[in-house]
Amino acid sequence: MACGLALTLLAAVQARETAPKPAYKDASRPIEERVEDLLARMTLEEKVLQLNQYTLGRNDNVNNMADPVGDIPSEIGSLIYFGTSPELRNSLQHRAVEESRLGIPILFAFDVIHGFRTVYPIPLAQACSWNPALVEQAARMAARETRMTGIEWTFSPMIDVARDGRWGRISEGYGEDPYAHAVFCASTVAGYQGDDLSDTGRIAACLKHFAGYGASEAGRDYVYTEISRQSLWDTYLTPYEAGIRAGAATVMSCFNNISGTPGSADHYLLTEVLKERWGHQGFVVSDWGAIQQLRAQGVAADCEQAALKAFNAGLDMDMMNRCYDAHLADLVRAGKVSGERLDDAVRRVLRLKFRLGLFENPYTPESREEERFLRPESLRIAEELAGETMVLLKNDGGILPLREVRKIAVIGPMAKSRFHLLGAWAAHGNGEDVESIFMGLEREFGERAQLSYAVGCEFDGDDASGFAEAVRVASESDVVVLCLGEKANWSGENASRSTLSLPAIQERLACEVARCGKPVVLLLTSGRPLELCRLEPLSDAILQVWQPGVRGGYPAAGILSGRINPSGRLSVTFPYATGQVPIYYGRRPSARPHQGKYQDIPSEPLYEFGHGLSYTTFEYGDLQAPSTTLRRGEKLRVEIQVSNTGACDGAETVFWFVSDPVCRIARPAKELRHFEKRMLRSGQSGLFVFEIDPERDLSFVDGEGNRFLEPGDYYVQVKDKRLKLTLVE
Ligand code: GLC
Repeated sequence: MACGLALTLLAAVQARETAPKPAYKDASRPIEERVEDLLARMTLEEKVLQLNQYTLGRNDNVNNMADPVGDIPSEIGSLIYFGTSPELRNSLQHRAVEESRLGIPILFAFDVIHGFRTVYPIPLAQACSWNPALVEQAARMAARETRMTGIEWTFSPMIDVARDGRWGRISEGYGEDPYAHAVFCASTVAGYQGDDLSDTGRIAACLKHFAGYGASEAGRDYVYTEISRQSLWDTYLTPYEAGIRAGAATVMSCFNNISGTPGSADHYLLTEVLKERWGHQGFVVSDWGAIQQLRAQGVAADCEQAALKAFNAGLDMDMMNRCYDAHLADLVRAGKVSGERLDDAVRRVLRLKFRLGLFENPYTPESREEERFLRPESLRIAEELAGETMVLLKNDGGILPLREVRKIAVIGPMAKSRFHLLGAWAAHGNGEDVESIFMGLEREFGERAQLSYAVGCEFDGDDASGFAEAVRVASESDVVVLCLGEKANWSGENASRSTLSLPAIQERLACEVARCGKPVVLLLTSGRPLELCRLEPLSDAILQVWQPGVRGGYPAAGILSGRINPSGRLSVTFPYATGQVPIYYGRRPSARPHQGKYQDIPSEPLYEFGHGLSYTTFEYGDLQAPSTTLRRGEKLRVEIQVSNTGACDGAETVFWFVSDPVCRIARPAKELRHFEKRMLRSGQSGLFVFEIDPERDLSFVDGEGNRFLEPGDYYVQVKDKRLKLTLVE
């Protein structure tokens, strides 16, 4: 009897081992075939769970309810993983792959916005480098640290065009210009994803927050955004179209209400534009709670209705709303959600999991922390990029670079701060990893100058008891390096501020220090453009350091010493005062350009988009083109000679704008369409070229998303040089 049973069992085992693999487990099959095979095997409940994302591991954010590991179903589609090593995630993955009926691996995600443990400058600063290749390298390094931790998907890049610095999330994007956003979005997607998502050093990108989040009324977060279809297309969708074209794997829906329709229930955006028009093959994940928030926004009576509206609008995966897992199956059974729509969403999720290679390699190899994080190459890129993001705003009398100084007073709350240099959304960044400004100055000047220090005051509050020591230290110095700025959590999510000014206590400290009569070099760290109309007169030089991440101290000091010639240029306008906001270079021309000014303050910004000083000088020649007439389908090469006429080498970014003074839709006064950064040696000249493709560079888009090109006059502009071109039929 036993023998017979053994033989039967043996036969069953042999049958199983020799049975043909199901297609979805056969890596030799095309992905689409594997997706369809797996989909056909799934039950309704299994399909619904693939469309849900919970959390796993430590998280102390008040919004982030950590899920007890035991409550997580092994069929869950995705988890936001808060761990910093692969062990815990591998254990959950093992349950999914080995214990669930179909063995579908879990997709692990995290917010890697500007680095994982090696933290790079905030994206708003990265854009000031005007160096997409370097930004791509930083994203590549971040992807490697992330994937080695067991996370395959980041909720980045954030590409919300923003023109109101009161909105804390301006720090997470690439500034005020749609074209700049498009370029840096594509670079970051390329850095994250590479050419093969199954590469264990790459991660899937997520374009967010789709769309128009940066237009938040009054700089508040989570609120209404008044966006016409025209502005939607000519401003806010430009970076997304570029990101989809760059192959971004996923998209995240936004919190904001877009002129009456919350973005997470906007069928026009999530389905008509993203999937039907742009052909996006990935999926849309909600922002955290954005589905159940449809109730608060007044378009859903309960979670079931919120789930119905969001899902039928085209929102595929539910991040921590607990709406899809609770109601989607019933909605399908009730015929309110079609089977086709359900399968479409599941297909998109499975497709990414196959592309990531998770079915073949579901587990992340364990590794030592030093193999994953803060590697020399990552730190080198972090330092190089930080140096290129810093913008020299003012340098009166050439006070910089510092020469022959023997005593440097380093004063202010940001002088020795380390954590706050990381900025918002610093993932697993650690203050202990950060080189402070003071540490950088010590490294740079330690041998040749005596550094003294006084904190002067805290970031805010009204305690001026430290002023006397700061004044004493300043009085005994040759120069003061005054380090002021924002805390890391003063920008980022849910971090709106009513004014772009620094707290009064910091401005009072600056006044006291300035009274000592020593030259003042002001170093600013912030996650937003600042109101500097009172600090500017007190400072001989101003260096916008932004929030540079782990390696900002030494490059900042290198700029002060002249070892680095600053090359940063502003990606966002610095207003004269908060009252000018929103203020940006790409405004539509006024009906009365010479009127409509403020009565009480200047109407021009303090520092405009693209502003940034160098230690050398650059001279621009005239714009040259073989013809000033161009035709559709033909390209025109426009050139300009730029010469480094100064005494030191320097990198210059040439910005190419176009303008169309007469168009059936009133266009911005000028629009950035090309830029190029290049190092020029002292005395060297370089030819900068913009090969104009009329359809790409001169056309405009209407409120239906149709790009059009009218015959007529256009201008190409570089600095104050303008060249008139005529497009003929
Ligand atoms: C947050 C943010 C979003 C982030 C997500 C997951 O609320 O809005 O940018 O990716 O939740 O942390």
